[in-house]
Amino acid sequence: MNNKLLGVFLVSALVGFGFSTVASAAGPKPEDAARYRQSIYTVIGWNFKPIGAMVKGEVPFDAAAVARHAQYIELMSKAALEGFPKGSGPDAVKNTEAKPEIWTNWDKFETAMNDFEGEAAKLAEVAKGGDEAAIKAQFGKTAETCKACHKEFRED
Ligand code: HEC
Repeated sequence: MNNKLLGVFLVSALVGFGFSTVASAAGPKPEDAARYRQSIYTVIGWNFKPIGAMVKGEVPFDAAAVARHAQYIELMSKAALEGFPKGSGPDAVKNTEAKPEIWTNWDKFETAMNDFEGEAAKLAEVAKGGDEAAIKAQFGKTAETCKACHKEFRED
């Protein structure tokens, strides 16, 4: 092999090595995924709670506040699923309440997430209208989807 060929060989070997290193480091770390999804749910909970307090009559109904909170919930509902990559369950992450059943029963988990997304989108839609009774009803439906998923897929 002459020097020029050797150079080409070395450069391509190095480039190849670089790419494979980058590719293996590209996926999220399990603990980062857990932190991401917990943050998403923290934002969801933060925005869901005040609507709940209004629905229960603990604080005065405020249509503009409901509409604002519901928008965040809708947005976050779409971002949650990617926080559950394979291998980010309790085997890999200490600080998580996610049950292993999420990954052994993925279709059911995805369905539960889709149900939530659908109801959250309706809540945001209804909230724009400002109709208190309709908002209360849709809040209840959305809360059911939280409970259904937590019951099956989250540690108490
Ligand atoms: C499709 C399943 C699913 C749905 C729907 C869902 N959650 Fe969760 N939620 C989880 C899982 C799983 C965890 C645990 C995540 C972890 O610890 O890694 C969690 C965690 C949480 C947490 C704790 C976050 C933290 O600090 O660790 C809160 C608060 C929460 N969810 C609120 C809600 C609310 C409110 C709704 C509905 C408006 C909702 N969730 C809908 C699955 C779901």
